[in-house]
Amino acid sequence: MKIIKSISEFFDWRSKINSSIGFTPTMGALHDGHLSLIKKSKLNCEVSIASIFVNPTQFAKNEDFGSYPKTLDNDIRLLNTLGVDVLFLPNEEEMYTKLEDVNVPSSELFKKLEGKSRPHFFYGVTKIVSKLFNVVAPTHAFFGEKDAQQLIIINEMISNMNYPIKLVSCPTVRDTNGLALSSRNQYLSKKEQIEASFFSQSLFDVERLIKGGELNSSILKNHFKKCLSQSKKIKVDYISIANKKTLNEVNAIKGNVLISAAVFFNDVRLIDNFTHQSST
Ligand code: PAJ
Repeated sequence: MKIIKSISEFFDWRSKINSSIGFTPTMGALHDGHLSLIKKSKLNCEVSIASIFVNPTQFAKNEDFGSYPKTLDNDIRLLNTLGVDVLFLPNEEEMYTKLEDVNVPSSELFKKLEGKSRPHFFYGVTKIVSKLFNVVAPTHAFFGEKDAQQLIIINEMISNMNYPIKLVSCPTVRDTNGLALSSRNQYLSKKEQIEASFFSQSLFDVERLIKGGELNSSILKNHFKKCLSQSKKIKVDYISIANKKTLNEVNAIKGNVLISAAVFFNDVRLIDNFTHQSST
C-alpha cells in the first residue's frame, strides 16, 4: 500500500490512473465498520483509496477533537491486510489552513437531528469531504448507514455540486451485543460497551413494535424513552422519527422513515438508527 501525505504527490499519482476508484474517507481508529466500507470498495472498484484525517472543523470547542482516538500503526496494518492501494494521509496544515475559505452550499438538512445538537457538524463534514473529493476524484465513494444523516447530506452535496461520483451506502456493522461499532466506543470499557448496547437493543425493540403494526410516532417515541430510562447511565439527547428525505418529524410511520437517536452513555455520545420502508 502506498501512503501519500501531500496533495501535490496525490495529484501526481492520480494523473496516471484511468480505472474506477473507490474512496473511503475516515477519521481513523479503524474498526470492522470502516473495514466493511473498504471491502465493498475492493469488490466494486479496480483501485481502492482510504483517507485518515481527523477533521477539526466538525468538532465544537467542547468536543473531543484533542482526545479523538489515534491508532495509526494499527490502521495501516489493517488497510494493508485488506489490500488498499493508497492511504491518503493529508498533511494537517495543508488541508486546514485553507479550510476557512471553503464554503460548500449549506442545506436545511444541516439543521435537523444531529445538526440541532451539533450545529457546526455538517458544515465541517461537507467542507472536508468536498475538499477530499476534489483531490481524490473518485468514481465511487463509500459511506456508512450508521451516520444516516451524513449519508443523506453527502448524497445531496454530490447532486448539488454535480460530482461525478457514485455514492455507495453500507449497512451498519455491530458488535455481538448489537452496539453499532464506532471509534468512540474505545472510550468505553468492555463492560460499559455491553451496558451501552442497551441503547441499540431498545432501538431494535422499537423496530419490532413497528413491524408488529404500531405506527404512531408518539407512542413509539414514548416506548423508546421508557426503555432507555431503565438504564441510569443513559441520557437521551434526541429521539427522532422523520421522513427520510426531508428529515422532518412525522406523526405516523408512512413511506420511507428514518428512526434515529443520540444518547450519552456516561459522557460518551452514541448514535444509532434504522430505516423503515412501508408500502403505504
Ligand atoms: P468516521 O467516523 O471515521 O467514519 C468513516 C466512515 O465509516 C463513515 O462513512 C461512517 O458512516 C462509517 N462507519 C462508522 N462506523 C460504522 C459502522 N459501525 N458500520 C458501518 N459504517 C460505519 O464519518 C466520519 O468519519 C467523518 O465525518 C468523515 C466522513 C470522514 C469526514 O470527516
